[in-house]
Parts: sequence; C-alpha cells; structure tokens
Amino acid sequence: MTSVSGSVPTHGNYHNYHGYHSRHPGAHDPRLELLPSELLLDARILDIGCNEGWVSCEIAQLRAARRVVGVDIDDVLVRMAWKRRRMLWSHQEPSHSASSTPTPHTVDNEPPKKKRKRNAGNSTPGASKAPPLPRPDYFPASCQHMLGPLPIPPNDPGPNHSESSASPQTFPHNVSFRRADWVNEVIPEDAGGYDVILAFSISKWIHLNQGDEGLRRFFQRVHDALVPGGTFVFEPQQWDSYTKARKLHPTLQENAKNLEMHPDGFEDVLREIGFGPAKQLGAPGQGRFKRPVELYVKSKV
Ligand SMILES: C[S@@+](CC[C@H](N)C(=O)[O-])C[C@H]1O[C@@H](n2cnc3c(N)ncnc32)[C@H](O)[C@@H]1O
Repeated sequence: MTSVSGSVPTHGNYHNYHGYHSRHPGAHDPRLELLPSELLLDARILDIGCNEGWVSCEIAQLRAARRVVGVDIDDVLVRMAWKRRRMLWSHQEPSHSASSTPTPHTVDNEPPKKKRKRNAGNSTPGASKAPPLPRPDYFPASCQHMLGPLPIPPNDPGPNHSESSASPQTFPHNVSFRRADWVNEVIPEDAGGYDVILAFSISKWIHLNQGDEGLRRFFQRVHDALVPGGTFVFEPQQWDSYTKARKLHPTLQENAKNLEMHPDGFEDVLREIGFGPAKQLGAPGQGRFKRPVELYVKSKV
C-alpha cells in the first residue's frame, strides 16, 4: 500500500486500503455484518476516517441508512470517495420512487429487517411495506467502462415532503463526504447529531499523530456528537501494530515515546467520558487486520 500522493501515509491515508485487505474487494465489509441488524437502518451516521468511501457507501446503498457522512483528513481520498459513490450509482438498478424508506438488502439468506421507529417524529408511516432497495449490480461494469459514469439526478424530495417531515433519502443522495481532521475541526453535519459514529482502524493514527491528549479529545468529541442513546462503533488497532506504524516518520517515533494510554485502557477512558461498557462484537479480519470491533452506547440522559 502507498499513500495517495506517493508520500509517507503518516495518517494511515492509504490508497486502495480496502482492495488490499479484503479478499474480495467489493464484497460486504465483514465488520458491518457484526453489527446489530437494525443499528444502521434509518440512522444518521458519521464514518470517521472514511478513506475511499467503501464503508460509507455500503451503509448508504445497502443498509438503508438515512444519512451517511464520511470524513477523512486526506482530500485525495475524499475525491476518490465521491468517485466511488458515482461508480456505484452507475451500476445500480434504475429506481422507481423514493417516496418511502426502502428496506435494506439482505446479506446471504438473512430475512429482511423490520423498520425500527428510531424517533417518532422522523419515522415513515407504512415503511414496513416499503419496496426493496434497487439492485446494486444491475448494470455490468462494462457499461461504465464504455459509456462513462451515469449522471446523478437532483434529489427529488418526494410528493409528501414538508419542512417538518424530512423526506427519506436514498442512495446516492444519502451519502456525502468531507475533508477534515475530525479531531480538531467541526463539520456542519455535526450540529444535527449522529445516531451512530464509526471509527474503524483510525485510533492508532490519531494517537501517534496527536498523542494521548489528541485521542482523548477525539473520544470526547465522539461522545458529544452522538445523540443521547447513540452508538459508537469502534475498531481500535492493537499496541503491537504501533511499532511498525511509528517507523513511518521521525515525528511519530518521537510522539510514540510519550504515549501513556494503551488500547487495553481505551475502555476505561471511554467510560470516564460517559459511555457504557464495551460490547465485544468479534474480530472478523485476517492476519494483522484481525481486530476487535466494539460497541459503546452513550447514556440516554
Ligand atoms: C487505516 S485507514 C482506515 C479506513 C477505514 N476507516 C476502514 O477501516 O476501512 C485510516 C483512515 O483514517 C484517516 N484519518 C486519519 N486521521 C484522521 C483524522 N484526524 N480525521 C479524519 N480522518 C483521519 C486516514 O486518512 C485514513 O483514510
């Protein structure tokens, strides 16, 4: 793997990260399959360190999320993420109507999920009768190779749209990307709060670049940006993987000498901040990508 610019990927800003560590690029991300079945459905989600947008797009296209924002520190990766969104749109079955929240795609033979009323004011009446999502692989890749990507039509808010009842969003309108160092920069979407925040394989990079203080600030910001009862889905890298990463740059070597927090102690820090106990969901990757996926819930009050 290289960084996007060919320079040293000191933030973990690898190009082709997903193609590299996935045995089946384009297949479902195994980390998402560990999540409780209704967690992402109709949820407002922030994917921090979205890289080229694979996870953000999968959630937006196949899991019927209401709104997904992917944020990454590297603007080249963010541009790739927008490109991926358009590429996936170009393969997708032409849709019929966006007037009701569609049901998510099932993975393997899993039965369709029933829509949860996450928030009475925002629920969609009759959503359990919603049509399935459009097929993601309707047009073969050759179409796009020959004709280029399809244009994305403007978002149609649907016939029942009003300011007070937000219209359901569908892919690709339900996903967008921003460049930001999310530890230190606020993005406009933060103001509305998130139901779920994902932080997959990013804590090591924040820790090595910004130290214990930066990582603590990150955890605190995650807590503050979640709505009460919101969920933090966290995949921390283990301490032994820091050894190789810090050799990427003398600054990381230097910063690493001052680290007192260790991944084994992250749960304590998160609990001090106000999260409940970690729920261990499993560790689905292979080799050095086999990392625990944990779920923390912010208290409801
Ligand atoms: C190792 S990759 C993980 C990508 C993705 N989350 C996944 O697991 O599939 C880490 C990503 O986090 C991004 N990143 C690192 N520090 C960041 C920060 N402070 N704010 C936003 N993104 C950051 C990097 O650019 C990179 O794309």
